[in-house]
Amino acid sequence: MSGEAETSAGARVSIDPSVCRGTGTCEAMAPDLFRLDGEGRPRALRQPLADGQALEAARAVADCCPTGAIEVVSGEQGPAHTTGTGTATPSHQTQETTMAESGTLSEAEERRINRLWENNYDDRTLAVLERLPFQPTWRCVDVGAGSGSMARRLAERVPRGEVLAVDNDIRFLQAGAARNLTVRRMDVTREDLPAADFDFVLLRAVLSAVKDPDDLLDRATRWLAPGGWLLTEDFYFMPSEDGPTANGRKVVEAYLKAFEAGGANPRIGRLLPSRLARAGLEEISTTIRPLGPGQGEAENALMRARMEIQGQGLVDNGLLTREDIDEFLDAMDRPEACDVTTLGFSVWGRRPPA
Ligand SMILES: C[S@@+](CC[C@H](N)C(=O)[O-])C[C@H]1O[C@@H](n2cnc3c(N)ncnc32)[C@H](O)[C@@H]1O
Repeated sequence: MSGEAETSAGARVSIDPSVCRGTGTCEAMAPDLFRLDGEGRPRALRQPLADGQALEAARAVADCCPTGAIEVVSGEQGPAHTTGTGTATPSHQTQETTMAESGTLSEAEERRINRLWENNYDDRTLAVLERLPFQPTWRCVDVGAGSGSMARRLAERVPRGEVLAVDNDIRFLQAGAARNLTVRRMDVTREDLPAADFDFVLLRAVLSAVKDPDDLLDRATRWLAPGGWLLTEDFYFMPSEDGPTANGRKVVEAYLKAFEAGGANPRIGRLLPSRLARAGLEEISTTIRPLGPGQGEAENALMRARMEIQGQGLVDNGLLTREDIDEFLDAMDRPEACDVTTLGFSVWGRRPPA
């Protein structure tokens, strides 16, 4: 991080028993912090976490928990800082966001999905960052930062620089997570950031979520200083009718419909290389990752959790039956159900130097 030792500041471990499958990963990784009871369920031994070392160890366990049942919850959160233009929101207001804003998921369910999402996608994003000429002084912005995992990783990469994490839903962004990390509540479709203010802009899975992705991309390109880099990652859902099993085709079709009904564009990934060029970026590179059942443990865990948590919505909408979902979950780990339903695009480019 910034060279300063991190303190636990009252942080605690939270375990969701409805999600835990008793794999024992936590006890094996940190026997000082976790113990399985007689029924194979973990108990947290030290609450709150005693020191920075325990905090680090608990976070490592949370990252590795195969079902996303474990989470480290901050005891104290520092004040949100503000920079640039737009309306800033103090971090305590994150508590005021209601469930209505987050659709039908409970906060615990959202946290579980967030954790599995980070497990699945962060390494990939970090691998792209390795290819960029990061400087410790860079100013970065994570647009639509979500739970803020990448914003925190960026803050580690630029110990003498700054990271701004913006989202219109900042419940999961930890404002005090790093000295050089600023959290701001901001609707990026309505508010702007100062031109030429950043050396790096990250847009991960956010262009697919806004109505006018070209407008956001054009503006985000203007936020870059000459010579700065922009990385965007997003999805291209393959046609569901080409899937290898009838059940897989039905489930993917239903998921796609729900995704689109929520206002998201499930096919933007493929357009990104050309859109970055059109926005004026140069030196554009692209990598693609296959996603879907059988495409890795972390991918399966995320998909499984999504189906367990969000599947009922698909049943309620008449898109699937409970049996369809159970069949999909049962088949997920079998080779004959292995499929590439989606391509995960990572595309990056550079604003021409002055
Ligand atoms: C799929 S999540 C991705 C989160 C994060 N980028 C990541 O990959 O971990 C999309 C994020 O975009 C945010 N978002 C969507 N529309 C937005 C808007 N108009 N202004 C700011 N954030 C927005 C959502 O709140 C959500 O956190």
